[in-house]
Amino acid sequence: MHQTGVRIAGVGHYVPTGVLTNADLERMLDTSDEWITTRTGMKERHVAAADEPTSAIAYRAALNALANAGREAADLDCLIVATVTPDYAFPATACILGAKLGISGKPAFDIEIACSGFIYGLTVAASLIRTGVFKRVLLVGAEELTRLVNYKDRSTAILFGDGAGAAVLEASDVDCFLAAELGADGSNPENLYLPLSGTAGPPITPDDVEQRRNTIVMNGREVFRFAVTKMIAATNVALSRAGITADDITWLIPHQANRRIIDAAAKHLEMPTERVIVNIDRYGNTSAASIPMALSEASAAGKLKDGDVILFVGFGAGLSWGAVAWRWHMSTNGKIP
Ligand SMILES: CC(C)(COP(=O)(O)OP(=O)(O)OC[C@H]1O[C@@H](n2cnc3c(N)ncnc32)[C@H](O)[C@@H]1OP(=O)(O)O)[C@@H](O)C(=O)NCCC(=O)NCCS
Repeated sequence: MHQTGVRIAGVGHYVPTGVLTNADLERMLDTSDEWITTRTGMKERHVAAADEPTSAIAYRAALNALANAGREAADLDCLIVATVTPDYAFPATACILGAKLGISGKPAFDIEIACSGFIYGLTVAASLIRTGVFKRVLLVGAEELTRLVNYKDRSTAILFGDGAGAAVLEASDVDCFLAAELGADGSNPENLYLPLSGTAGPPITPDDVEQRRNTIVMNGREVFRFAVTKMIAATNVALSRAGITADDITWLIPHQANRRIIDAAAKHLEMPTERVIVNIDRYGNTSAASIPMALSEASAAGKLKDGDVILFVGFGAGLSWGAVAWRWHMSTNGKIP
């Protein structure tokens, strides 16, 4: 089989302009800035406008990533969108994004594995390139979770925000994909799920909509426990597959679901705070978008240097989890320094 390397050639992100602060939530719910800040690390999150579907924010992030990579949409061979908040149940949001980018006809598909979406997508996109199927793939994580939230339920309403992050992956002399570990356990889907949204259960009624029963349901404590355990376990497997240790990680880029989850996992992995990328205070939990948004911000801030090892790790509904060890090599398509 033809085998080549893969690298990330460019990254970008976009958040809608609407902002929902903890002070706003204080006015809507029985909650406080103090509770939200200490229990989650969140201060504000962004909210898409009514006429701004997921494909619209994915499009903006995609343009930013293409510009960062110095590529045109026409250079892409395939589009992948990781999302659980698609424009429609079908067609795939990636198809709509392809049309917006002016490249209808190129293969396009969605990955629906909630907050683990970018980790799974990175593994799929890298594999498609490493095996020679495609030369250049655009991977976007884009979500509008605020549309699925019941703003009368304080235990979930405070957590979620909208945003999009994108990466252009391309064939390369150097191979930046070091290893991956992915997992899923669907034995208790109701630990984190969207009721009345599919073929399981009775058809949705006007009363369900009125009572907002078709919004995110979550067992917060259970998900918290699971998240910390799986982040640590998945990281250790990915590191061992890559033949490296936690000491070799330059940057930990975790899914941004709760500051306490990130801190607990980082502490166990003995990662100093300054090597952990965190932006949860400004965006809340943006599901599949959180990791590429954090990556794009870290890149734009000049933090990432060629040769750095990044450990991406995430978890989410499924329950699902995953970690990818990645060598950063964006500036040139040469040899690792
Ligand atoms: C949701 C989460 C922040 C709740 O924090 P917690 O410390 O576990 O809090 P608990 O659920 O144990 O609730 C503690 C108390 O705070 C209250 N509370 C919950 N939300 C609150 C809010 N927004 N404001 C004020 N009080 C709140 C609860 O009612 C409970 O009160 P009680 O003790 O009187 O019953 C936390 O469990 C979490 O982040 N879990 C993981 C969720 C996640 O990551 N989901 C996405 C996965 S991709």
